[in-house]
Amino acid sequence: MNVEISTPGTELVQRLSATPRGARLARRLATTALATWGYPHDSDLSHTAELLVAELAANAVTHGRVPGRDFELRLILLPDTDTLRIEVSDARGERALRFLDGRPEDECGRGLVIVQVLARLWGVAERDVGKTVWAELSLSARRRPCPRRRGPAG
Ligand SMILES: Nc1ncnc2c1ncn2[C@@H]1O[C@H](COP(=O)(O)OP(=O)(O)OP(=O)(O)O)[C@@H](O)[C@H]1O
Ligand SMILES: [Mg+2]
Repeated sequence: MNVEISTPGTELVQRLSATPRGARLARRLATTALATWGYPHDSDLSHTAELLVAELAANAVTHGRVPGRDFELRLILLPDTDTLRIEVSDARGERALRFLDGRPEDECGRGLVIVQVLARLWGVAERDVGKTVWAELSLSARRRPCPRRRGPAG
């Protein structure tokens, strides 16, 4: 697999198989890219980004999977706006994602709740084929207390 992690261009774009292995690779690639860009594996940003990539990639390979189609991970570091942008694109077109109220006893339906709590902003964007679920983190913020609930941005 050819992986390009640009420095100081600070963008990673990688297509991955829509499988559990692909989702695991997405996580690993994200933390490796961040380490290359100066955010080590044990940093707050790396931990938080890893969680977000894990949830979004897991969703892409379960709910967003179209047989025979890959999904794509994109990470963009935007220091000027204090932003790490995470994009996970899959081939399935429905734009609306159910936003579930996670209850402690629920065994599923937690992924987007985690995204909601950890991301500064997140949303879903249509593409020619499929959609992109994106989330943004502040480069400087440590993990914050639960913010007010808000739905996905467009
Ligand atoms: N990439 C996606 N494509 C299509 N539907 C999605 C996608 N991501 C999430 N969804 C929808 O949103 C719902 C909520 O997602 P969420 O990640 O919160 O829960 P889950 O994946 O069902 O369970 P868990 O993440 O706890 O294993 C999903 O059950 C699915 O219906
Ligand atoms: Mg999920």
